[in-house]
Amino acid sequence: MIHDLVRQTRSFRRFHQEVAIDNETLRQLVDLGRLSASGRNRQPLKYLLSCDPEKNALIFPQLGWAALLKDWPGPAEGERPSAYIIILGDKEISQDFALDHGIAAQSIVLGATEKGLGGCMLRSIRREALRQALSIPERYEILIVLALGKPKETVVIDPLGPDGDTRYWRDENQVHHVPKRSLDDVIVSH
Ligand SMILES: Cc1cc2nc3c(=O)[nH]c(=O)nc-3n(C[C@H](O)[C@H](O)[C@H](O)COP(=O)(O)O)c2cc1C
Repeated sequence: MIHDLVRQTRSFRRFHQEVAIDNETLRQLVDLGRLSASGRNRQPLKYLLSCDPEKNALIFPQLGWAALLKDWPGPAEGERPSAYIIILGDKEISQDFALDHGIAAQSIVLGATEKGLGGCMLRSIRREALRQALSIPERYEILIVLALGKPKETVVIDPLGPDGDTRYWRDENQVHHVPKRSLDDVIVSH
């Protein structure tokens, strides 16, 4: 059921790092991005894959994790992603990537859920440092990073409280809570 799949597809930020993800799995996920909608069907997205620990270690320090969890510096060694898909925009194809990378990213994380994996989309990226660390040519704009792994945390969706606070938070059992607006709240009727 698509509803269940979307519900389960949360942002996970702690993983069983020792559970490897192979390159073929990443290729299958990228195929979901490849098949997704693209403005004017220009398909300007390209994908950089990483599933080996040395390359992962070059990517991890360039990412900003959970800005709203002020006391949490991001996943510790042992709980870090096993793989990454970096979505790039090929400027030789288009200068405007519009919504394409968001759509592709969602296709990929839905596919990851179906495979029993989980991930997090990250737009907080030290882009120049990442470009240098991986020798990414100037031709490619770094759009978004998908961190992937076997989730090691519980993430639950809560209704918004009366104060309307949308900030995600962690409880004393390290369960991650994500408040979502109600269906009636997001449908405009006038
Ligand atoms: C475009 C986009 C950029 C995001 N960038 C980051 C990021 O840089 N770091 C991070 O930890 N989470 C990032 N997230 C994850 C959001 O914080 C997350 O989607 C939100 O808290 C809601 O949780 P949910 O995905 O489980 O519904 C990003 C999500 C989106 C859609």
